[in-house]
Amino acid sequence: MAKLIVALDVPSPADVAPVLAALDGPVQFYKIGLELYCAGGADVVRAVTAQGRRVFLDLKFHDIPRTVERAVRSAAQPGVELMTLHAAGGRAMIAAAAATARACPPDRRPRLLAVTVLTSLGEDDLTDLGVTRAMDDQVLALARMAVAAGADGVVCSPREVARLRAELPAGTLLVTPGVRPAGADMGDQKRTATPGEAVRAGATHLVVGRPVLSAPDPAAAAAAILRDMSA
Ligand code: C5P
Repeated sequence: MAKLIVALDVPSPADVAPVLAALDGPVQFYKIGLELYCAGGADVVRAVTAQGRRVFLDLKFHDIPRTVERAVRSAAQPGVELMTLHAAGGRAMIAAAAATARACPPDRRPRLLAVTVLTSLGEDDLTDLGVTRAMDDQVLALARMAVAAGADGVVCSPREVARLRAELPAGTLLVTPGVRPAGADMGDQKRTATPGEAVRAGATHLVVGRPVLSAPDPAAAAAAILRDMSA
C-alpha cells in the first residue's frame, strides 16, 4: 500500500503543531524541506518525531562524498525514514551516503532517495547544463546510476513513475509530488496526476502539500486522498 506524506511547507516551527493536530489520525508521515529546516533545524525534526510521526527530510544533499556522508550521519535520527540527495552529485557521493546510511543503527537508518532532474527544469536548461540527452532519458539514466550506487529510490514526477517502475529494480521506492485530487487547484504544478493514478503507475509514496494544507478541512482532504489511493 502506497503511503501519503504531507509536505510541512510552513515558514516557522510554531506552525507545525496545528498541522499535526489537524491531521492526527489520517496522516502519520511528513516531509520537512529547506524552508522549515532552515527556520527550525534538527529541533523541528525532533519535535515532529517526538509526536510519533514519521519524517521525510528533504534537504537534497549535493557536495563532495565526505561532506554528504557526514551530513547523512548528522541528519539521521529516529523517525527520519527518508532523505534526499541529488543524483547529479555522482556515483561516489551516493555510494558514500548509502554506506553511511546502512551503517546507522536500525532505529535511525534512513532510506536515501535520489533527485534526478528538478521538475522546474526544462529541455533548454539541460542544454545550458551541457546535457544532450532528452529529458526522459536523462531522468532514467540518473535514476539507474543512483540506484546502482546504493540509493533506495527516486523522487520523480507522476509523468515519470510508470517508466521508472518498469525500468528500475523491484522494490525501488518511487516518491512523487505533483499529486492533485480530481478537480483540485494545480497551483504551480504542471505535470500532475490524481492520487489513484500515481498509485496505479507504481508510486510507493505520494507527497501532497497545498491540496491538504490549504483545504478548509485538512483532515477530510487527506481522508479523500487516502480513499482515492486505496481504490
Ligand atoms: O503543495 P504541493 O502539493 O505542490 O507540494 C509538493 C511538495 O513537493 C512541495 O514541498 C514541493 O517543494 C515538493 N516537490 C515538488 N516537485 C519536486 C520535488 C519536490 O513539488 N520535483
